[in-house]
Amino acid sequence: MVDHRSRPGWVEVEDFLSETLVQGGPGMDAVVGSIDAAGMPRIEVAPTAGKLLMLLARIGGARRVLEIGTLAGFSTIWLARGMPSDGHLITCEFLPEHAAVARRNIDAAGYGPMVDIRVGAALDTLPTLLGGDPYDLVFIDADKGNNTEYLKWALKLTRPGSVVVMDNVVWEGTILDPGSDVDAAAIRAALEFMGASPELEATAIQTAGSKGWDGFAIAVVK
Ligand SMILES: C[S@@+](CC[C@H](N)C(=O)[O-])C[C@H]1O[C@@H](n2cnc3c(N)ncnc32)[C@H](O)[C@@H]1O
Repeated sequence: MVDHRSRPGWVEVEDFLSETLVQGGPGMDAVVGSIDAAGMPRIEVAPTAGKLLMLLARIGGARRVLEIGTLAGFSTIWLARGMPSDGHLITCEFLPEHAAVARRNIDAAGYGPMVDIRVGAALDTLPTLLGGDPYDLVFIDADKGNNTEYLKWALKLTRPGSVVVMDNVVWEGTILDPGSDVDAAAIRAALEFMGASPELEATAIQTAGSKGWDGFAIAVVK
């Protein structure tokens, strides 16, 4: 297979778009720095994607947001930036050490009162959220093997008109060869679930840049 990550220009174009349009500010650079400093993997969304999450929250008037997969809180902060100050964001993170870094970053960014980090396996946390008001936006970005289960939980925890975003849906194109990789098979299955679900209207966009060849799916709950 061609190594698409080596394609010249992708990262430079992304840097140009980030500098020209995203302008995340020093606080966001510090969040990325904290990922390196803690020796955590650089698997946060690109700044251009982070700002897209902010814009989706703002466009949809999201007041209640659910995120699955926190890492250091980079995408969490972008989502919070798109919400009103009385909004509420719950983010699920399996690893306590990731959650601790995220807590510091989210508090330093000024979103501490809005953001509740739930530490543990998301499939244990999600049932505890039943019975509350529906979430306006759900961002799925954790262990890919559970993506279909996360989509099912998203349907239980949202309302018609809510938005569901699922990251990493192209996975270097391996979704076309699901036998090659267990995550590729799970991502493909989740996309097929989205496409077949009578409760979701979905599409997906391919992306190329600092995160290689990937993409995200976006759906509205019918
Ligand atoms: C891709 S990173 C999240 C990146 C983050 N959304 C961002 O863009 O800044 C995935 C995170 O999900 C966490 N994770 C993995 N399995 C999980 C699970 N079963 N439940 C909750 N979190 C999980 C990992 O520890 C990791 O921090």
